[in-house]
Amino acid sequence: MINKDTVEVFKKVETPFYYYDVELLKSTLELYKSQIDKYGYNAHYALKANANDRILEIIKGYGLGADCVSGNEVKLAVKSGFSPDKIVYAGVGKSDKEIKAALNAGIFSFNCESVPEIKVINDLAAQMGKKARIALRINPDIDAHTHKYISTGRKEDKFGISPWAFVDVTDLIDQCGNVELIGLHFHVGSQITDMSVFELTCRRVEELQKWFIDRNINIANINLGGGLGVDYINPNEHPIAPFEDYFSIINKNLVVRPGQRIHFEPGRAIVAQCGHLISRVLYVKVGKQKKFAILDAGMNDLIRPALYQAYHDIENITSAGRKMRYDVVGPVCESSDRWGHNRMLSKTQRGDIISINTAGAYGQVMAMKYNQRDLAKAYYSDTIK
Ligand code: LLP
Repeated sequence: MINKDTVEVFKKVETPFYYYDVELLKSTLELYKSQIDKYGYNAHYALKANANDRILEIIKGYGLGADCVSGNEVKLAVKSGFSPDKIVYAGVGKSDKEIKAALNAGIFSFNCESVPEIKVINDLAAQMGKKARIALRINPDIDAHTHKYISTGRKEDKFGISPWAFVDVTDLIDQCGNVELIGLHFHVGSQITDMSVFELTCRRVEELQKWFIDRNINIANINLGGGLGVDYINPNEHPIAPFEDYFSIINKNLVVRPGQRIHFEPGRAIVAQCGHLISRVLYVKVGKQKKFAILDAGMNDLIRPALYQAYHDIENITSAGRKMRYDVVGPVCESSDRWGHNRMLSKTQRGDIISINTAGAYGQVMAMKYNQRDLAKAYYSDTIK
């Protein structure tokens, strides 16, 4: 929560910056943890959503493992104290160097995305005298009903192994002495709010795993990835993602065989709502048709609106004036550097402080220095003064 005292503190801090509500992160994790414990599920936090040291330390404290998509993420997870036997590693383009680093770390599983990748992992593991545990990331051909850039499970997407390649994959694994197949992995997209997508995924998982079980191939682990969406429109009303609904849908629809372990890779749903991008109004430019509120935070700080046409709630937290319409924009020399079109904000003037909400996931971690702008710093609710 950004209360009055916090706003007073913000007034003394150079903007733009990221602000993380540690209490909200902890209550989110408490609910998440109680839900996975209720069903006996395992979770690996997707580092790609936010990899700040402080955030990782808190998440690790709840016993979650780590989901990584690069060698550096694997290294960071290990350095941050995540147990290697709870680290999973996906990605369509793992380099030899990255594979070797993950083999050295002794991670739980490589989530493999193609036939040639399995061969390379086997050969590198053989050279190093190791055996790699692998899961097959399957492309189940499911439309996640989300933005096309964050859909990953349709047959035209680059991710995962399609069912028509199963024979090639199992033949290859039979010939490989240095990989062990430990399960199947699915991740069909991100910011999924249509719960029927998860129901459908569970049904597809059952159809697809039968193929392996019919051939006496043991599937010890099923990993359902991440993807659960959060409320970007009304974050104050829904500060925590609908974990109860989500896990109850999974529990009802997923057929689990004796001894099978079920895994998840939540990213956004854990960290999105606890983060805010805090900015100052530089100028209000009054045009004939509209007013522009020009902020000191830009697309380089948070690229989601420019890249995915994403909606983020915007609040003027220092004005209580009558609501007026503004186009809220950033300072970067791109027309896509726009926070919102026709947004209702309390009457805004130079120096007001603006909070761009639901910025904890895929915000700071995707920031860049375009226009040679400084990278925004991070502050945490329990240490900011
Ligand atoms: N597992 C895998 C294999 C993934 O590729 C992802 C996200 C996750 C788990 C975590 O998904 P989540 O629970 O966060 O939905 N930059 C985009 C999102 C990209 C998601 C990439 N993969 C955005 O800002 O919306």
